[in-house]
Parts: sequence; structure tokens; C-alpha cells
Amino acid sequence: MIHRRSAKELDLMRAACHTVGEILARLRELVRPGISTAELDRYAEEWTIESGATPAFKGYAVGRNVYPATLCVSINEEVVHGMPSPKRILAEGDIVGLDFGVVREGYYGDSAITMPVGCTSEEADDLIRVTRESLERGIERLQVGNRIRDVSEAIQTHAESHGYGVVRDFVGHGIGQRLHEEPQVPNYVGRGQNPRLKEGMVLAIEPMVCAGTYEVEVLDDGWTAVTRDRRLSAHFEHSVAVTANGPEVLTLA
Ligand code: MF3
Ligand code: CO
Repeated sequence: MIHRRSAKELDLMRAACHTVGEILARLRELVRPGISTAELDRYAEEWTIESGATPAFKGYAVGRNVYPATLCVSINEEVVHGMPSPKRILAEGDIVGLDFGVVREGYYGDSAITMPVGCTSEEADDLIRVTRESLERGIERLQVGNRIRDVSEAIQTHAESHGYGVVRDFVGHGIGQRLHEEPQVPNYVGRGQNPRLKEGMVLAIEPMVCAGTYEVEVLDDGWTAVTRDRRLSAHFEHSVAVTANGPEVLTLA
């Protein structure tokens, strides 16, 4: 079932999503060579609790696998779900994805950014830019009367026009009273369900774009997804409401 949120529910989602946007903006300021991914996670958790919200990812279970942290920090060839560790230190030239969610008063917000650490290669900067643009192209299509596949197509077309690969194994999702709700929002055109977009739906749009192959594998830690060819990957995500006036990006700072 695809939920449609009432005006009151949308207000609650705005509050949760705004917390996500604010904290992500503050985390971005901490990114520099020498900081550990565990340190970023510690701030994310501290600021979440301070704000009166609860981390959305910590304790999230996929089968028997329980995610242990507040933040996902994915470096270079890591696509998503990188687990924070005191041993992972950001270095000049890395690109780093920060993926973060909270729940506040029963409603979830979810957003991600990818950014350079210090000075990065032209290839890395281009991948980040095109991935951000792919998210924007997808969001533009979140209009009442369009379908999910219109969003998928816009994202895929933009990323592939730059020669990049779009990840198939992870997709965007509905979001609301759970982190992951129906419908799935693929970043490529496939043969799945293709529901029509209606006022009040809230979707987390999250293209994962790779410099080379779109194929990923999950490391032995059970979480970290990396590109099979170990080339770079970038990820951006916003939680967005479909309204009569067009898309409303909820996870802004
Ligand atoms: N933004 C990611 C997602 O939408 C974060 C999930 S991490 C998890 O799937 F631990 F919560 F699974
Ligand atoms: Co998400």
C-alpha cells in the first residue's frame, strides 16, 4: 500500500526531514583529511539526540543483520552502507558519501550527500556533479499524474548520457512511518510496478551512480556495498513530497 500523507502528517514529516537536512549540513563542515568515519558518526548521533529525534538507521535490521551506527559513510568505491570505524580515516582526494536518517514523533526523514575530501580528481568531481544533477532531474518529475518510471527514466538518462552506470541492486523508496515503504523507486527503467504519483506521497529518491560498472557486491561485514570494478561511486538522496504545486524537497537545511 502506498501511503498518502495528510496536511498534519506532512507537517510532522517536514519536521523530521528538516532535522536531517540541518545535521547533514553540519556534518559536511566536519569533512576534512584526518577525521575518522567513527568521529562523524559520533557527532551525527549526538546532534540527533540533542535535537530530540532518534537515529533511524541504528538497530535497523535486514534479516539477521543489524546496522550498528547512526550514519552510513561510504568512501570512494563504497556505494552505500559503509560502516563507521575509528580505523577509517578520510584522506585528501577521497570522495565520501554521508547517508543519514532520523525518526521524530513517529515520522522518518532520509537524505544523503557525496562530497570531496580536500582536492579531488576531475573524474571524481564530475561523477559527484552528475549524480547530484541526476537526483535533481528525478525530483523534477515528481509531479501529480506522472509515474514512478518517469522519475527512474530521468535519473538513468542523465547518468548514462555521461557514460556512468546506475546501480540496480539498491533503489529509492516511499518513506513515512517506516524508513522503507512502498513504492520502490528504481534509478533505472525496469519491469517492476509503475504506480501513478498522487498528492501526499512522500518518496526518498536516491541515485547511486558509478564511474564504471553498475554492478556491486557486499563485503564480508554484511553491509558495505562496493563497486565490482572498485571504481568510484557517488550517492545523493532527498525525501520529497508530491504536492499539487509540484515536488517539495523536505530534507533541506
Ligand atoms: N538511506 C539508506 C536507505 O534508504 C540508509 C539505510 S541504512 C540502514 O536505505 F542501515 F538503515 F539500512
Ligand atoms: Co533511503
